[in-house]
Amino acid sequence: MKRALTILFLAALLSLVVLGAAYAAPPQQGGGQEYTVQADDWLSKLAEKNYGDVLAWPVIWQATNAKAAEDTSFVAIPDPNVIEVGQKLWIPDEAEAAMMLEEFAAERTAASPQGSADVTGELNILCVVQPEWCEGQISEFNKIYPGILINWVRMSSGESLTRLRNEASNPQFDVWWGGPVDSYIAAAQEGLLEPYDSPNAVNIRDPKLMKAPDNAWYGIYIGSLGFATNTNYLAEHPEVQAPTSWDDLIKPEWKGQIMIAHPSSSGTSYTQLCTILQLKGQDAGWEYQRGFASNVLQFTKSGSAPARFVGQGEAAVAVVFSHDIVTQQENGLPLQLTFPAEGTGYEIGGTAIIKGAQHPDLAKLWVDWAISPAAQEIGPKYQAYQAPTVIGASASRPELLEVNLINYDFEYCGNNKKDFVDRFTNEIANADALKE
Ligand code: G6P
Repeated sequence: MKRALTILFLAALLSLVVLGAAYAAPPQQGGGQEYTVQADDWLSKLAEKNYGDVLAWPVIWQATNAKAAEDTSFVAIPDPNVIEVGQKLWIPDEAEAAMMLEEFAAERTAASPQGSADVTGELNILCVVQPEWCEGQISEFNKIYPGILINWVRMSSGESLTRLRNEASNPQFDVWWGGPVDSYIAAAQEGLLEPYDSPNAVNIRDPKLMKAPDNAWYGIYIGSLGFATNTNYLAEHPEVQAPTSWDDLIKPEWKGQIMIAHPSSSGTSYTQLCTILQLKGQDAGWEYQRGFASNVLQFTKSGSAPARFVGQGEAAVAVVFSHDIVTQQENGLPLQLTFPAEGTGYEIGGTAIIKGAQHPDLAKLWVDWAISPAAQEIGPKYQAYQAPTVIGASASRPELLEVNLINYDFEYCGNNKKDFVDRFTNEIANADALKE
């Protein structure tokens, strides 16, 4: 099975762990049966066998824990990924299981913010995604909180991090929304973010990966890096093919034909840099970046811009997030989407409250909403096809993550962001003349 699917499956499992943990175990009054764990059993497998639904496994987990609370022959299961051979489980019958699943779903719906016209005030948002989505998301928030006046500015990740640093003693923004969490990890390290224990943190699919341990930031979307090749260029150059490996991009045939943003301004580009350093190791990775940069026609400021420029024929290949390629394909640009077979990096887009925010209570409402299923299903309406991070919201383009994803280490990339960006700028390409 591809690694991406494994990651997604684990994420789904972990999400249900959180879901299960969020609900008090209901007393087991309905029917059911005891079961003794055999070798190679795990809860999802038993859920499939008994209910025809792998995702129903929290039923067995919760039911067994409830039994353990009243019957010492059962042992509670603290970590549902670990069950021991010979351990006794309680398997509710199908009717009981269906009731429990309904209760879980109802609890989750209750955790979604309902909004209110009575809440009034101002909120200043530093928005990192494409402006159309910033605007759309804000207008949707205003539908449930019409009394909140929102001012917002769009900036790329690196620019926004610099802005937050410069304003640390007098913050102008309340909320940071969008952009890979590498920057959020760097900002949290510098004390620029205000941790907030949102009641909706229980919605997050994989809390270890998709939120800060102290809740200084939350993941709001996921997206993989891809290559966009202009199909007219391919038609005119039958000797070349759309790249399917990172190593293809350093071949002489792409000299002056590649566009990507600069990692000092762009989170997209930083994701590429840190992907390469992880895939190849530091020495070979920096060597690769030198070769790669020598094939780049021009670096841009914004991460997604190269997809548009390449679609318009300014260069042949763009390295951008795959969902941004889909958006430009929808806009009618002649682009072919490919992925590097040896593995590609991915982002978790974040949101956070700024330390010293002037409107912290309204900022909390935004964060609660941003990690609700309703908010995370808005993206496609504004041509944003990132995958959601919360349970209850489904991905509009799941295939974009069903590729070979590397095990991207956000801590490593976040902690080293400043050093890696400085090294790139000083040794490989400066950021003096960025396009758009
Ligand atoms: C685009 C993508 C987002 C990404 C953002 C980063 O908007 O759709 O998924 O997080 O770029 O922007 P940047 O300009 O910092 O690369």
